[in-house]
Amino acid sequence: MIAWRWRGNRSPPNARASNRSPPNARATNRSPHNARASNRSLHNARASNPSPRNARIYFSSQIMAIVNRNAMADTPIYSPELLEEIDFEKEHLATYDPPISLTNPGPNLKLRPLQLSDYNKGYMDLLLSALYMQDSAVTQQEFKERWDKMKASGGSYYITVIEDTSTQKIIGNAVLHVEYKLLQSSFRRGRIEDIAVLEGYRLKQLAKLLIDVTTILCKKVGCFRVSLYCKDRVIPLYQKFGFYIDKAENLMWLDKMKLQ
Ligand SMILES: CC(C)(COP(=O)(O)OP(=O)(O)OC[C@H]1O[C@@H](n2cnc3c(N)ncnc32)[C@H](O)[C@@H]1OP(=O)(O)O)[C@@H](O)C(=O)NCCC(=O)NCCS
Repeated sequence: MIAWRWRGNRSPPNARASNRSPPNARATNRSPHNARASNRSLHNARASNPSPRNARIYFSSQIMAIVNRNAMADTPIYSPELLEEIDFEKEHLATYDPPISLTNPGPNLKLRPLQLSDYNKGYMDLLLSALYMQDSAVTQQEFKERWDKMKASGGSYYITVIEDTSTQKIIGNAVLHVEYKLLQSSFRRGRIEDIAVLEGYRLKQLAKLLIDVTTILCKKVGCFRVSLYCKDRVIPLYQKFGFYIDKAENLMWLDKMKLQ
């Protein structure tokens, strides 16, 4: 991550440039529209007038644009501090043999919150190969639009992934969806969804680790209940954590046709 700082007491180039314009021009340039327009003309003037100073300013503005784009692309879906605060040794529910942990999931593996840029690290390939039909793929633009909605919900989506840093591929995924309730003493209810590990990385306890971390997150964000639904064959996996089948409740779906 690049930290952007001005050195010394000098004001930034735009401020220096605009300070030179006559007082009236400064007064009329105050609206955001005028500011943008003047920045644009300044930018055009610098681009078309390749003096060493203008070239320097032009290239630093280009670098800043790239830095800003990357900073945005690497926004996590939830604060990584939540993971840093977990005392995994104390809080984990499953047993690991050989031992692995939140901070040490295995060679070249890193467990962290999902980032917007993970679209380019095969995140969709993981979901599509493990959980969904190939025709459910979304474009990068659609991914970004859904991401923005999830982020805007303010604390409803805790998506944790595992990256293989040697290939820069996302190989594990777990979703905690937090719903807000109006009529409960504690008002957050969790649902665990989309547990997936890429083929080639399976049976290395990574699903167990993701479920463990996600269950700890449930506690940390104040869920009063948490549930999930799964196929029969993976019931034993969830039972390791204390999940049980509630025979008094049935999962019911509305016929899809009724929604069309
Ligand atoms: C199910 C899945 C997530 C397991 O991932 P994994 O990383 O291989 O699982 P782990 O190595 O952490 O295994 C944990 C335990 O579950 C068992 N297990 C793993 N995959 C299993 C499966 N498909 N069926 C039954 N048991 C399974 C393991 O034997 C292991 O048991 P143990 O601790 O007694 O040895 C992975 O196979 C997958 O992504 N499948 C496709 C998506 C899916 O079905 N997700 C579950 C949605 S509810």
